[in-house]
Amino acid sequence: MGLKSAAMRAASVFTHPAKPHDFLALINPLSSARQLRGVVTAVRPETTASTTISFRPGDGWSPHDAGQWARIGVEIDGVRQWRSYSLSAPAGGDPQITVTACGKVSAHLAHETRVGDIFFLAPPQGEFLLPTGPRPLLMLTGGSGITPVMSMVRTLLPKRADADVVLIHSARDRESALFGAELAQLATQHEGFHVVHRYTSEDGRIDFSTTTDLDALCPDWRSRKTYVCGPAAMLDDAEKLWLDANLPGSLTVERFETTKLTEVAGEGGTVIFEKSDREVEADASTPLLEVGEEAGVLMPSGCRMGICRTCLTPLLSGRVRDLRTGEVIDTEGDLIQTCISAAAGTCHLDI
Ligand SMILES: Cc1cc2nc3c(=O)[nH]c(=O)nc-3n(C[C@H](O)[C@H](O)[C@H](O)COP(=O)(O)OP(=O)(O)OC[C@H]3O[C@@H](n4cnc5c(N)ncnc54)[C@H](O)[C@@H]3O)c2cc1C
Ligand code: FES
Repeated sequence: MGLKSAAMRAASVFTHPAKPHDFLALINPLSSARQLRGVVTAVRPETTASTTISFRPGDGWSPHDAGQWARIGVEIDGVRQWRSYSLSAPAGGDPQITVTACGKVSAHLAHETRVGDIFFLAPPQGEFLLPTGPRPLLMLTGGSGITPVMSMVRTLLPKRADADVVLIHSARDRESALFGAELAQLATQHEGFHVVHRYTSEDGRIDFSTTTDLDALCPDWRSRKTYVCGPAAMLDDAEKLWLDANLPGSLTVERFETTKLTEVAGEGGTVIFEKSDREVEADASTPLLEVGEEAGVLMPSGCRMGICRTCLTPLLSGRVRDLRTGEVIDTEGDLIQTCISAAAGTCHLDI
Protein backbone atom coordinates (compact mmCIF):
# COMPACT_ATOMS: atom_id res chain seq x y z
CA MET A 1 0.00 0.00 0.00
CA GLY A 2 1.38 3.41 -0.93
CA LEU A 3 1.84 6.37 1.44
CA LYS A 4 -1.13 8.15 -0.16
CA SER A 5 -3.60 5.30 0.36
CA ALA A 6 -2.37 4.77 3.95
CA ALA A 7 -2.95 8.46 4.64
CA MET A 8 -6.42 8.28 3.04
CA ARG A 9 -7.26 5.25 5.14
CA ALA A 10 -6.14 7.04 8.28
CA ALA A 11 -8.19 10.09 7.30
CA SER A 12 -11.30 7.99 6.66
CA VAL A 13 -11.05 6.55 10.19
CA PHE A 14 -11.28 10.05 11.59
CA THR A 15 -14.05 11.22 9.26
CA HIS A 16 -16.34 8.17 9.69
CA PRO A 17 -17.63 6.68 12.94
CA ALA A 18 -14.88 4.20 13.83
CA LYS A 19 -14.92 1.04 15.93
CA PRO A 20 -11.94 -0.30 17.96
CA HIS A 21 -11.04 -2.88 15.29
CA ASP A 22 -10.72 -0.07 12.72
CA PHE A 23 -7.91 1.50 14.80
CA LEU A 24 -6.36 -1.96 15.24
CA ALA A 25 -6.43 -2.50 11.48
CA LEU A 26 -4.53 0.75 11.02
CA ILE A 27 -1.68 -0.59 13.14
CA ASN A 28 -1.84 -4.13 11.76
CA PRO A 29 -3.70 -4.38 8.44
CA LEU A 30 -4.29 -8.13 8.93
CA SER A 31 -6.14 -7.70 12.19
CA SER A 32 -9.57 -6.53 10.98
CA ALA A 33 -12.33 -8.41 12.78
CA ARG A 34 -14.69 -7.65 9.89
CA GLN A 35 -12.81 -9.16 6.99
CA LEU A 36 -10.13 -11.83 6.67
CA ARG A 37 -7.05 -10.35 5.00
CA GLY A 38 -3.58 -11.36 3.88
CA VAL A 39 -0.38 -9.50 3.08
CA VAL A 40 1.54 -10.28 -0.10
CA THR A 41 4.98 -11.64 0.80
CA ALA A 42 6.41 -12.52 -2.63
CA VAL A 43 5.62 -11.96 -6.29
CA ARG A 44 7.27 -14.19 -8.90
CA PRO A 45 6.63 -13.96 -12.65
CA GLU A 46 6.17 -17.44 -14.17
CA THR A 47 5.55 -16.49 -17.81
CA THR A 48 4.75 -13.17 -19.50
CA ALA A 49 1.05 -13.61 -18.57
CA SER A 50 1.26 -15.59 -15.31
CA THR A 51 2.50 -14.64 -11.86
CA THR A 52 2.77 -16.56 -8.62
CA ILE A 53 1.80 -14.49 -5.59
CA SER A 54 2.54 -15.69 -2.05
CA PHE A 55 0.67 -14.19 0.87
CA ARG A 56 0.52 -14.50 4.64
CA PRO A 57 -3.07 -14.69 5.83
CA GLY A 58 -4.27 -13.15 9.08
CA ASP A 59 -6.39 -14.76 11.79
CA GLY A 60 -9.38 -16.72 10.52
CA TRP A 61 -7.60 -18.48 7.67
CA SER A 62 -7.57 -22.28 7.79
CA PRO A 63 -4.69 -24.23 6.22
CA HIS A 64 -5.66 -25.50 2.77
CA ASP A 65 -5.78 -29.05 1.45
CA ALA A 66 -4.01 -29.75 -1.84
CA GLY A 67 -6.33 -28.81 -4.71
CA GLN A 68 -8.48 -26.29 -2.82
CA TRP A 69 -9.15 -22.69 -3.84
CA ALA A 70 -9.89 -19.43 -2.10
CA ARG A 71 -11.75 -16.23 -2.88
CA ILE A 72 -9.38 -13.29 -3.21
CA GLY A 73 -10.59 -9.70 -3.08
CA VAL A 74 -8.64 -6.72 -4.40
CA GLU A 75 -9.55 -3.09 -4.76
CA ILE A 76 -9.37 -1.78 -8.31
CA ASP A 77 -10.31 1.86 -8.93
CA GLY A 78 -11.92 1.98 -5.49
CA VAL A 79 -14.17 -1.06 -6.07
CA ARG A 80 -13.54 -4.35 -4.28
CA GLN A 81 -13.48 -7.19 -6.83
CA TRP A 82 -13.58 -10.86 -5.84
CA ARG A 83 -12.35 -13.81 -7.88
CA SER A 84 -11.50 -17.43 -7.04
CA TYR A 85 -7.98 -18.84 -7.32
CA SER A 86 -6.62 -22.33 -6.69
CA LEU A 87 -3.91 -22.45 -4.08
CA SER A 88 -0.84 -23.71 -5.91
CA ALA A 89 1.39 -24.17 -2.83
CA PRO A 90 1.65 -27.56 -1.09
CA ALA A 91 -1.08 -28.26 1.49
CA GLY A 92 -0.89 -26.43 4.77
CA GLY A 93 1.95 -24.00 4.10
CA ASP A 94 1.79 -20.27 3.42
CA PRO A 95 -0.59 -19.98 0.48
CA GLN A 96 0.28 -19.04 -3.08
CA ILE A 97 -1.83 -18.40 -6.13
CA THR A 98 -0.71 -18.47 -9.74
CA VAL A 99 -2.74 -16.03 -11.79
CA THR A 100 -2.91 -15.90 -15.58
CA ALA A 101 -3.93 -12.51 -16.94
CA CYS A 102 -7.04 -12.87 -19.09
CA GLY A 103 -9.41 -10.11 -17.88
CA LYS A 104 -9.70 -7.13 -15.55
CA VAL A 105 -8.97 -8.69 -12.15
CA SER A 106 -6.47 -11.32 -13.28
CA ALA A 107 -4.48 -8.72 -15.26
CA HIS A 108 -4.40 -6.48 -12.18
CA LEU A 109 -3.26 -9.35 -9.95
CA ALA A 110 -0.68 -10.69 -12.40
CA HIS A 111 0.86 -7.35 -13.36
CA GLU A 112 0.18 -4.83 -10.58
CA THR A 113 0.60 -6.83 -7.34
CA ARG A 114 3.51 -5.76 -5.14
CA VAL A 115 5.00 -7.17 -1.92
CA GLY A 116 3.16 -5.59 1.02
CA ASP A 117 -0.18 -5.27 -0.81
CA ILE A 118 -3.22 -6.40 1.16
CA PHE A 119 -5.63 -9.05 -0.16
CA PHE A 120 -9.13 -9.58 1.18
CA LEU A 121 -9.69 -13.29 1.65
CA ALA A 122 -12.22 -16.02 2.29
CA PRO A 123 -11.03 -19.35 3.74
CA PRO A 124 -10.02 -22.20 1.40
CA GLN A 125 -12.72 -24.48 0.04
CA GLY A 126 -13.27 -27.04 -2.71
CA GLU A 127 -13.66 -30.75 -3.33
CA PHE A 128 -10.91 -31.24 -5.91
CA LEU A 129 -8.90 -33.30 -3.44
CA LEU A 130 -6.40 -36.16 -3.49
CA PRO A 131 -7.76 -39.62 -2.65
CA THR A 132 -7.28 -40.67 0.97
CA GLY A 133 -5.49 -43.95 0.13
CA PRO A 134 -2.63 -44.60 -2.33
CA ARG A 135 -3.84 -45.00 -5.94
CA PRO A 136 -2.26 -44.60 -9.36
CA LEU A 137 -3.19 -41.11 -10.53
CA LEU A 138 -3.63 -39.39 -13.86
CA MET A 139 -3.68 -35.59 -13.98
CA LEU A 140 -4.96 -33.91 -17.15
CA THR A 141 -4.44 -30.17 -17.22
CA GLY A 142 -4.73 -27.35 -19.72
CA GLY A 143 -3.32 -23.80 -19.38
CA SER A 144 -3.84 -22.30 -15.92
CA GLY A 145 -5.77 -25.45 -14.95
CA ILE A 146 -2.47 -26.88 -13.76
CA THR A 147 -2.52 -24.77 -10.55
CA PRO A 148 -4.56 -27.05 -8.23
CA VAL A 149 -2.72 -30.09 -9.61
CA MET A 150 0.60 -28.38 -8.86
CA SER A 151 -0.47 -28.16 -5.24
CA MET A 152 -1.30 -31.87 -5.33
CA VAL A 153 2.04 -33.01 -6.78
CA ARG A 154 3.99 -30.64 -4.51
CA THR A 155 2.14 -32.17 -1.55
CA LEU A 156 2.13 -35.82 -2.58
CA LEU A 157 5.58 -36.47 -4.06
CA PRO A 158 7.73 -35.48 -1.06
CA LYS A 159 5.50 -37.57 1.24
CA ARG A 160 5.05 -40.79 -0.73
CA ALA A 161 8.03 -42.52 -2.29
CA ASP A 162 5.62 -45.02 -3.92
CA ALA A 163 3.47 -42.33 -5.63
CA ASP A 164 2.49 -43.29 -9.19
CA VAL A 165 1.41 -40.13 -11.03
CA VAL A 166 1.14 -39.34 -14.74
CA LEU A 167 0.66 -35.64 -15.49
CA ILE A 168 -0.35 -34.67 -19.02
CA HIS A 169 -0.22 -30.91 -19.40
CA SER A 170 -1.38 -29.04 -22.47
CA ALA A 171 -0.21 -25.47 -23.03
CA ARG A 172 -0.37 -23.15 -26.01
CA ASP A 173 3.42 -23.19 -26.46
CA ARG A 174 6.64 -23.74 -24.47
CA GLU A 175 6.82 -20.10 -23.38
CA SER A 176 3.36 -20.12 -21.77
CA ALA A 177 3.67 -23.55 -20.11
CA LEU A 178 3.54 -23.10 -16.33
CA PHE A 179 5.99 -24.73 -13.90
CA GLY A 180 7.97 -26.46 -16.70
CA ALA A 181 11.37 -26.43 -14.95
CA GLU A 182 9.99 -27.54 -11.58
CA LEU A 183 7.99 -30.37 -13.16
CA ALA A 184 11.06 -31.59 -15.04
CA GLN A 185 13.06 -31.55 -11.80
CA LEU A 186 10.33 -33.41 -9.87
CA ALA A 187 10.24 -36.05 -12.62
CA THR A 188 13.99 -36.67 -12.26
CA GLN A 189 13.68 -36.86 -8.45
CA HIS A 190 10.64 -39.15 -8.27
CA GLU A 191 10.68 -42.41 -10.18
CA GLY A 192 6.90 -42.75 -10.16
CA PHE A 193 6.21 -39.26 -11.54
CA HIS A 194 5.86 -38.94 -15.32
CA VAL A 195 5.22 -35.64 -17.07
CA VAL A 196 4.01 -35.33 -20.65
CA HIS A 197 3.90 -31.84 -22.17
CA ARG A 198 1.75 -31.13 -25.20
CA TYR A 199 2.02 -27.78 -26.97
CA THR A 200 -1.02 -26.97 -29.07
CA SER A 201 1.05 -24.72 -31.38
CA GLU A 202 3.29 -27.71 -32.25
CA ASP A 203 1.29 -30.87 -31.52
CA GLY A 204 -2.33 -29.71 -31.84
CA ARG A 205 -4.94 -30.20 -29.12
CA ILE A 206 -5.30 -33.47 -27.28
CA ASP A 207 -8.56 -34.93 -28.54
CA PHE A 208 -10.62 -36.20 -25.63
CA SER A 209 -13.64 -36.92 -27.81
CA THR A 210 -12.21 -40.40 -28.53
CA THR A 211 -9.81 -42.64 -26.59
CA THR A 212 -7.10 -42.61 -29.30
CA ASP A 213 -4.89 -39.81 -27.86
CA LEU A 214 -5.32 -41.00 -24.30
CA ASP A 215 -4.49 -44.63 -25.18
CA ALA A 216 -1.25 -43.38 -26.74
CA LEU A 217 -0.30 -40.97 -23.93
CA CYS A 218 -1.27 -43.11 -20.94
CA PRO A 219 -2.25 -46.67 -21.96
CA ASP A 220 -3.47 -47.66 -18.46
CA TRP A 221 -5.68 -44.53 -18.02
CA ARG A 222 -8.74 -46.67 -17.22
CA SER A 223 -7.14 -47.98 -14.03
CA ARG A 224 -6.11 -44.56 -12.71
CA LYS A 225 -7.96 -42.11 -10.49
CA THR A 226 -8.07 -39.09 -12.78
CA TYR A 227 -8.18 -35.35 -12.12
CA VAL A 228 -8.89 -32.88 -14.89
CA CYS A 229 -8.76 -29.07 -14.89
CA GLY A 230 -8.55 -26.81 -17.93
CA PRO A 231 -10.67 -25.15 -20.61
CA ALA A 232 -14.39 -25.94 -20.55
CA ALA A 233 -14.37 -27.89 -23.83
CA MET A 234 -11.60 -30.17 -22.55
CA LEU A 235 -13.56 -30.86 -19.36
CA ASP A 236 -16.82 -31.50 -21.23
CA ASP A 237 -15.09 -34.00 -23.55
CA ALA A 238 -13.31 -35.74 -20.65
CA GLU A 239 -16.57 -36.09 -18.70
CA LYS A 240 -18.24 -37.68 -21.70
CA LEU A 241 -15.28 -39.98 -22.36
CA TRP A 242 -15.21 -41.28 -18.79
CA LEU A 243 -18.99 -41.68 -18.83
CA ASP A 244 -18.85 -43.64 -22.11
CA ALA A 245 -16.10 -45.82 -20.58
CA ASN A 246 -18.44 -46.47 -17.66
CA LEU A 247 -15.92 -44.90 -15.27
CA PRO A 248 -17.57 -41.62 -14.15
CA GLY A 249 -16.63 -42.23 -10.50
CA SER A 250 -12.90 -42.28 -11.22
CA LEU A 251 -12.87 -38.79 -12.77
CA THR A 252 -12.78 -35.60 -10.67
CA VAL A 253 -13.28 -32.32 -12.50
CA GLU A 254 -12.42 -28.74 -11.48
CA ARG A 255 -13.96 -25.94 -13.51
CA PHE A 256 -12.56 -22.39 -13.61
CA GLU A 257 -15.31 -21.09 -15.85
CA THR A 258 -18.83 -21.94 -16.79
CA THR A 259 -20.34 -22.08 -20.24
CA LYS A 260 -23.12 -19.55 -20.69
CA LEU A 261 -25.51 -19.33 -23.63
CA THR A 262 -24.08 -17.10 -26.34
CA GLU A 263 -27.53 -15.80 -27.26
CA VAL A 264 -30.30 -15.37 -24.74
CA ALA A 265 -33.84 -15.44 -26.09
CA GLY A 266 -36.41 -13.20 -24.38
CA GLU A 267 -36.63 -9.92 -22.54
CA GLY A 268 -34.99 -8.59 -19.37
CA GLY A 269 -37.03 -6.66 -16.85
CA THR A 270 -37.17 -4.59 -13.69
CA VAL A 271 -35.11 -5.98 -10.80
CA ILE A 272 -36.12 -4.97 -7.30
CA PHE A 273 -33.54 -5.53 -4.56
CA GLU A 274 -36.01 -5.43 -1.69
CA LYS A 275 -33.81 -5.16 1.41
CA SER A 276 -31.46 -2.70 -0.30
CA ASP A 277 -34.38 -0.61 -1.58
CA ARG A 278 -33.03 -0.45 -5.15
CA GLU A 279 -34.92 -0.86 -8.41
CA VAL A 280 -33.16 -1.05 -11.78
CA GLU A 281 -33.82 -2.08 -15.37
CA ALA A 282 -31.76 -5.05 -16.55
CA ASP A 283 -31.33 -6.73 -19.92
CA ALA A 284 -31.81 -10.45 -20.50
CA SER A 285 -28.13 -11.40 -20.49
CA THR A 286 -26.44 -9.44 -17.66
CA PRO A 287 -26.12 -11.57 -14.51
CA LEU A 288 -28.16 -10.22 -11.58
CA LEU A 289 -24.92 -10.19 -9.57
CA GLU A 290 -23.49 -7.55 -11.90
CA VAL A 291 -26.81 -5.68 -12.06
CA GLY A 292 -26.86 -5.46 -8.25
CA GLU A 293 -23.20 -4.46 -7.94
CA GLU A 294 -23.69 -1.77 -10.56
CA ALA A 295 -26.65 -0.44 -8.54
CA GLY A 296 -24.56 -0.33 -5.35
CA VAL A 297 -26.17 -3.37 -3.70
CA LEU A 298 -23.81 -5.39 -1.48
CA MET A 299 -24.08 -8.69 -3.37
CA PRO A 300 -22.49 -11.86 -1.92
CA SER A 301 -20.27 -13.57 -4.50
CA GLY A 302 -17.47 -16.08 -4.86
CA CYS A 303 -16.54 -17.83 -8.08
CA ARG A 304 -18.95 -15.71 -10.20
CA MET A 305 -19.55 -18.70 -12.43
CA GLY A 306 -22.17 -20.92 -10.87
CA ILE A 307 -19.80 -23.17 -8.95
CA CYS A 308 -19.51 -22.14 -5.30
CA ARG A 309 -23.13 -21.09 -4.53
CA THR A 310 -21.96 -18.15 -2.36
CA CYS A 311 -24.33 -15.89 -4.28
CA LEU A 312 -27.54 -17.81 -3.51
CA THR A 313 -30.37 -15.32 -3.04
CA PRO A 314 -34.09 -16.00 -2.50
CA LEU A 315 -36.40 -15.06 -5.36
CA LEU A 316 -39.36 -13.39 -3.66
CA SER A 317 -41.43 -13.26 -6.86
CA GLY A 318 -41.09 -12.83 -10.61
CA ARG A 319 -39.00 -14.57 -13.26
CA VAL A 320 -35.28 -15.09 -13.79
CA ARG A 321 -33.41 -17.09 -16.42
CA ASP A 322 -30.50 -19.49 -15.91
CA LEU A 323 -27.86 -18.18 -18.33
CA ARG A 324 -26.32 -21.65 -18.74
CA THR A 325 -29.46 -23.49 -19.80
CA GLY A 326 -32.05 -20.84 -20.65
CA GLU A 327 -34.42 -22.36 -18.07
CA VAL A 328 -36.83 -19.84 -16.53
CA ILE A 329 -37.23 -19.98 -12.73
CA ASP A 330 -40.41 -18.45 -11.30
CA THR A 331 -41.08 -20.33 -8.06
CA GLU A 332 -41.41 -17.99 -5.08
CA GLY A 333 -38.78 -18.65 -2.44
CA ASP A 334 -36.42 -20.54 -4.79
CA LEU A 335 -32.77 -19.81 -4.15
CA ILE A 336 -31.17 -18.46 -7.30
CA GLN A 337 -27.50 -18.10 -8.16
CA THR A 338 -27.26 -14.44 -9.10
CA CYS A 339 -23.97 -14.91 -10.95
CA ILE A 340 -25.58 -17.10 -13.62
CA SER A 341 -29.16 -15.76 -13.56
CA ALA A 342 -30.59 -12.78 -15.42
CA ALA A 343 -33.94 -11.01 -15.33
CA ALA A 344 -36.68 -12.65 -17.43
CA GLY A 345 -39.32 -10.06 -16.54
CA THR A 346 -39.91 -8.19 -13.31
CA CYS A 347 -38.27 -9.94 -10.36
CA HIS A 348 -38.04 -9.22 -6.63
CA LEU A 349 -34.92 -10.43 -4.81
CA ASP A 350 -34.57 -10.80 -1.05
CA ILE A 351 -31.41 -8.76 -0.72
C1 LIG B 1 -12.42 -22.70 -8.42
C2 LIG B 1 -11.68 -21.75 -9.32
C3 LIG B 1 -10.29 -21.73 -9.31
C4 LIG B 1 -9.61 -20.86 -10.16
N1 LIG B 1 -8.24 -20.87 -10.14
C5 LIG B 1 -7.56 -20.07 -10.98
C6 LIG B 1 -6.13 -20.09 -11.00
O1 LIG B 1 -5.49 -20.82 -10.23
N2 LIG B 1 -5.49 -19.25 -11.86
C7 LIG B 1 -6.17 -18.42 -12.71
O2 LIG B 1 -5.51 -17.67 -13.47
N3 LIG B 1 -7.52 -18.39 -12.73
C8 LIG B 1 -8.23 -19.17 -11.88
N4 LIG B 1 -9.60 -19.14 -11.86
C9 LIG B 1 -10.28 -18.16 -12.76
C10 LIG B 1 -10.42 -16.82 -12.01
O3 LIG B 1 -11.34 -16.93 -10.94
C11 LIG B 1 -10.97 -15.72 -12.91
O4 LIG B 1 -12.15 -16.14 -13.52
C12 LIG B 1 -9.97 -15.36 -14.00
O5 LIG B 1 -8.78 -14.88 -13.40
C13 LIG B 1 -10.57 -14.26 -14.90
O6 LIG B 1 -10.98 -13.18 -14.10
P1 LIG B 1 -10.94 -11.69 -14.70
O7 LIG B 1 -11.68 -10.78 -13.83
O8 LIG B 1 -9.56 -11.31 -14.99
O9 LIG B 1 -11.68 -11.87 -16.07
P2 LIG B 1 -13.18 -11.51 -16.38
O10 LIG B 1 -13.17 -10.11 -16.86
O11 LIG B 1 -14.08 -11.90 -15.27
O12 LIG B 1 -13.41 -12.57 -17.56
C14 LIG B 1 -12.63 -12.55 -18.76
C15 LIG B 1 -12.79 -13.85 -19.55
O13 LIG B 1 -11.81 -14.81 -19.09
C16 LIG B 1 -12.38 -16.13 -19.11
N5 LIG B 1 -11.62 -16.93 -18.15
C17 LIG B 1 -11.90 -17.18 -16.85
N6 LIG B 1 -10.93 -17.93 -16.29
C18 LIG B 1 -10.02 -18.16 -17.26
C19 LIG B 1 -8.79 -18.85 -17.30
N7 LIG B 1 -8.29 -19.43 -16.22
N8 LIG B 1 -8.10 -18.88 -18.47
C20 LIG B 1 -8.58 -18.27 -19.58
N9 LIG B 1 -9.75 -17.58 -19.61
C21 LIG B 1 -10.45 -17.54 -18.46
C22 LIG B 1 -13.82 -15.91 -18.73
O14 LIG B 1 -14.63 -16.94 -19.24
C23 LIG B 1 -14.13 -14.57 -19.40
O15 LIG B 1 -14.62 -14.79 -20.69
C24 LIG B 1 -10.31 -19.99 -11.03
C25 LIG B 1 -11.71 -20.01 -11.03
C26 LIG B 1 -12.38 -20.87 -10.18
C27 LIG B 1 -13.89 -20.88 -10.20
S1 FES C 1 -20.68 -16.66 -7.03
FE1 FES C 1 -20.20 -18.79 -6.98
S2 FES C 1 -22.08 -19.70 -7.61
FE2 FES C 1 -22.45 -17.61 -7.83
